[in-house]
Amino acid sequence: MKFIALKISLLFVATLVGANSHAQETNSKASQTTSNAQYFQTYKAKKARQDWILNCQGCHKIDGTGRPDKGLPNLTGEVAKFLTVDGGREYLSRVPGITNASVNDADLAELINWLLPRFDPDNIPADFKPYTVEEVTQWRKHPLSIQAPQTRESLLAKLSHNNSQK
Ligand code: HEC
Repeated sequence: MKFIALKISLLFVATLVGANSHAQETNSKASQTTSNAQYFQTYKAKKARQDWILNCQGCHKIDGTGRPDKGLPNLTGEVAKFLTVDGGREYLSRVPGITNASVNDADLAELINWLLPRFDPDNIPADFKPYTVEEVTQWRKHPLSIQAPQTRESLLAKLSHNNSQK
C-alpha cells in the first residue's frame, strides 16, 4: 500500500504547485512505473516470476507473447483490458491455466497481481484493486474448462463493443 500513498502524495504536491491535469497524469504514471519497478524487486514478485516460469511460460512464453496462431493468447499489452469489462476480473482468475496451476491460492493471487503490471501495465484501470486470496480461492472452485474459449470470445466482443462506442 506504500506506493498508493506515494502516488497520492505526488498528486498532492502537483496540485499544490498548480500543475495542470496533464502534468498530474504524467506524475502519476511516473510514480506508477517507479512503484512497479520497486515491486518487481520484492521477494513475492520474484516468487511470482518463478511460478510463471514453472507453470505458464510453456504456453504463454516467458515474455508473455504466447502463440496466438496456436490459440495461446498473447498477454502483453492485452491482458489487463479484461479488467475493464463485466466478468473480466473473474475470467482472469478462472481460466484453466490458472486454476490448474500447481501453486497455492496465495501464490496464485500474487501471480495474477504480478502478471498484470509485468505484461500490461498501461491497461490496468486506475481503480484496480489487487486480487485477494479469498476471491482467488472462491473462483478456483469454479474453473472454466471447456467454456473458457467461449467466455473469452464474449468478453472480447464486449471489449470491442465498448471501444467502438468511445
Ligand atoms: C496448456 C497451455 C496453457 C498453460 C500452461 C497456461 N495457459 Fe493461460 N491460457 C491458455 C489458453 C489456451 C488461454 C485462453 C483461454 C482458454 O481457452 O483456456 C489462456 C488464457 C490465459 C489468460 C487470460 C488472457 C486471455 O487472453 O484469455 C491468462 C491471464 C492466463 N492464461 C494466464 C496464465 C497463467 C498465469 C498461467 C500459469 C499459472 C497459464 N496461463 C498457464 C493456455 C495456457
